[in-house]
Amino acid sequence: MSIYSADLMATKVVLITGGGTGIGKGIACAMGEHGAKVVIASRKKEVIEATAAELREQGIECESCVCDIRDYVSVTALMSFIMQTYGRLDVLVNNAAGNFPASVDQLSANAFRTVVDIDLNGTFNVSKAAFEAFLKGKGGAVVNITAPFEGWGVAYQAHAAAAKAGIDSLTRTCAVDWQPLGIRVNAVAPGSVSATEGTGRLTEALVGDRPTISCSPADIANAVMFLASDAGRFVSGEIIRVDSATGVDLLRIPVH
Ligand code: HXC
Repeated sequence: MSIYSADLMATKVVLITGGGTGIGKGIACAMGEHGAKVVIASRKKEVIEATAAELREQGIECESCVCDIRDYVSVTALMSFIMQTYGRLDVLVNNAAGNFPASVDQLSANAFRTVVDIDLNGTFNVSKAAFEAFLKGKGGAVVNITAPFEGWGVAYQAHAAAAKAGIDSLTRTCAVDWQPLGIRVNAVAPGSVSATEGTGRLTEALVGDRPTISCSPADIANAVMFLASDAGRFVSGEIIRVDSATGVDLLRIPVH
């Protein structure tokens, strides 16, 4: 049973990038279960189509659209799709990300650039396109998915940590720039989330057999819905860690 009322997100049109799997799918499900019309986007057509079908079977209004958030043309096509389908966008969740464990010396220039391009540039691209197309003039909410990396060196995560630091900065700056327009911008920093591709990769590389505490995608979705809904209507420029104070610990495990 949800901690929120069933109509918390009713009438809202919500875009979730990377909404086909893991945390993004959890957010899409939760938003839909609380009345939102959900659009999920990702590079992987078969994945998002299958997820959209699964959500529709649960009674959720869900559309999918293929998009590479690194490519601004692809992002504007996504916005056109949303405009044609719903005529508006109320909430953007910048969730799509790329990651793999590698020490700095193992990262090629292209490997570093690829993750920064997906995570940071992708977040900028979709935020800007959403602002231009839908949010400007009538307000809205953006929630960026970041990581609990701030203030620490993070083993095997130079690429992702740099990108997430950029996202944190972008979150605060967009919040200030867009405050007069009624657009709130916040971020959620999940720690270890069970049954996701990212946690699987990092846990295997950094933690090995050591027991870890994981939350579920639904726990992350609860924080995202707080920020995206009217419950958080006076909250902007904030980064909320949702890791039960374990995220930093997990990623500071000494590596061999
Ligand atoms: C070193 C690697 C590597 C690895 C890829 N590369 N995997 N380098 N170790 N394990 C290098 C490649 O060799 C290449 O460099 C460059 O990265 C780009 O790789 P491509 O495969 O061409 O890129 P692409 O097809 O665009 O795929 C992007 C990707 C991929 C990030 C590499 O893994 C992906 O699409 N991931 C999406 C899903 C995902 O990662 N989800 C987890 C997010 S979790 P060269 O020099 O050879 O050309 C998350 C949580 C973070 O973000 C916080 C946790 C707490």
